[in-house]
Amino acid sequence: MTESDPVTRHFLRDDDLSPAEQAEILDLAVELKRDRFAVQPLAGPQTVAVIFDKSSTRTRVSFAVGIADLGGSPLIISTANSQLGGKETPSDTARVLERMVSAIVWRTYGQAGLEEMARGTTVPVVNALSDDFHPCQLLADLLTMREHRGDLAGQTLVFLGDGACNMAQSYLLAGATAGMHVRIASPAGYTPNAQVVADAASIAAQTGGSVELFTDPVAAVTGVDIVITDTWVSMGKEEEKAARLADLGAYRVDAALMAHAKPDAHFMHCLPADRGFEVTADVIDGAQSIIWDEAENRLHAQKALLVWLLAQNSQNTSSNAA
Ligand code: CP
Ligand code: NVA
Repeated sequence: MTESDPVTRHFLRDDDLSPAEQAEILDLAVELKRDRFAVQPLAGPQTVAVIFDKSSTRTRVSFAVGIADLGGSPLIISTANSQLGGKETPSDTARVLERMVSAIVWRTYGQAGLEEMARGTTVPVVNALSDDFHPCQLLADLLTMREHRGDLAGQTLVFLGDGACNMAQSYLLAGATAGMHVRIASPAGYTPNAQVVADAASIAAQTGGSVELFTDPVAAVTGVDIVITDTWVSMGKEEEKAARLADLGAYRVDAALMAHAKPDAHFMHCLPADRGFEVTADVIDGAQSIIWDEAENRLHAQKALLVWLLAQNSQNTSSNAA
């Protein structure tokens, strides 16, 4: 089948999941963390293509291991030595891959490429990081917050630094979906996309969460449960490095800034980190930091996502056939 199938579920941005669906996937992740080999929907093995336009350690390893845990076979593709992005469009690539693989996971630059790939295929497409969003990371982060702090609804998180980066924008959408209070602290020129803020606010209005933008880092951190930052120089922004380091200096997470959060607050970072820039070593390597659980949870959260997407799409296929 080569036509776009409107019932196929994809995961291109955090708000592709409803609040109930997000919670269901997190519950499943808890079960899979308890018993890594509990379900094997990819037994056969079926293949999942995992494509990288950008570098990766955690995403590459967690998808490769997770697909194998689910009984499947990961096919890791670097676009540097494939036709995608050079000679071939995302939709043509998708139409070829769907004949052979059960799902496509793609780390890329523009969100539009992911949307084109999803339109062009009947197998689930998963965003493994784009310039705009990092939704797989957010599932892992929400799982980690749940483990360390309990129910997500009503908790307050703050993301400091580049508010226009993929992590900040994913916190807005995923945090609002979870009913959390999401604060973004960034200087002028680094604020999140206005449409993403509006989308998050509209989700928060349904879930009891909220969305707030700050310029003052101290005001933003005051009283929060979770303090989060990310590199100031995301992949693709390397040419702006000097300006970014100068512009974002006031948003560095250090012990003095952490002291404004709740006394039992946690620190999170998706990694890789630049110690001494967005966060000081004493904070990221200190007692409040939960970064290693956060990194491990990529595995469990993404497995749950794949199991859920494959189940959704097989239900859709059977109800279409009925
Ligand atoms: N956090 C994250 O996505 O890490 P990688 O770039 O190593 O995959
Ligand atoms: N914002 C970072 C996240 C890396 C996992 C980047 O896009 O490079």
